[in-house]
Amino acid sequence: MADIADKPQNVHFAPRRLAHANIFVRDLKESLAFYSAVCGLTEVFAEPAVDMVFLSNGSSHHDVALMQIARKDRGGRDGRVATTRGSEPGLNHLGWEMENEKVLVDAYKRAVGLDVDVKRTTDHGMSHSVYLFDPERNFQEFYSDQLADWREFYRNNVGQAISGSWDPLASAPSTAANYDANFSPEYVKSAPVQPREISRAGIIAEDFDKMLRFYRDVGGLSLAHLDEAVGVAVLMGTTGKPALSLFAQRDGEQTGLHHIGFEVVNEIELEKLHGDLRRINDAAPVEITDGRGKKGVVLKSPDGILLEFFLPTPGRAWSAEDARAPRDLFIA
Ligand SMILES: [Fe+2]
Repeated sequence: MADIADKPQNVHFAPRRLAHANIFVRDLKESLAFYSAVCGLTEVFAEPAVDMVFLSNGSSHHDVALMQIARKDRGGRDGRVATTRGSEPGLNHLGWEMENEKVLVDAYKRAVGLDVDVKRTTDHGMSHSVYLFDPERNFQEFYSDQLADWREFYRNNVGQAISGSWDPLASAPSTAANYDANFSPEYVKSAPVQPREISRAGIIAEDFDKMLRFYRDVGGLSLAHLDEAVGVAVLMGTTGKPALSLFAQRDGEQTGLHHIGFEVVNEIELEKLHGDLRRINDAAPVEITDGRGKKGVVLKSPDGILLEFFLPTPGRAWSAEDARAPRDLFIA
């Protein structure tokens, strides 16, 4: 198998956007309470067979999935092993929303044709997915929505395992675009932050150039910003919103997931936020990020994952400061 980023790989999944993060957590109950009561995300489905819950405020079938860490294999609906990973807290995978199934299958065919190591293809009932690792073992999922009404799918599958095998070549892929870009967010009203949807993630790269090549050539993300001297790249899907920041590793930094970012519905009132957080979760630290293009706060999950909640600043385009300033804040 060729090294995934040794030569140009014109696979170009070219997803629309970053649409979810799937996270391994040390204590599912504690994390679910944090992501709902503090982060304002609504639990929409549970898959007990794999100790997983899905949270969404309406953007798609999930913005965040939380999976209990375990030292055992977990089964899917057809008896196959759903995942053997996840013995430690952290990122399971990022989920990238494709325009439709045909675009996904066409990219899958190019990946196979170019000897790219596709790890699995899955039918989740509501979506079809292609999974692969980036060069530094951050797992990536490219998926197409197969149903327009994922809520109905959840209602019809309460308590069930929903994932099984999928053969992308078994039938003609659909060209229907089933995502809903104009949804009305429904958030947890009592939570101190009210996210509309996930929209960003940051990854620290040991080999910045190789990682950048992967996300451009295989991921098909386009470049919104590149500062090679600083070691920052910001990439976006076809919706044109910044979706992924790649940071070149600095001394002593751990590589892998750096943060996850959510766009919020309302202005964040900092004074109220501090009070609410003290009331709900004494341990949650609050940091303010204030780049030219956005303003927000950073919370830390029970497992130490950084979660940024931000409001884009009207009329101000994204700038390099948005990539640099938050990272410096996080590292401090
Ligand atoms: Fe996923």
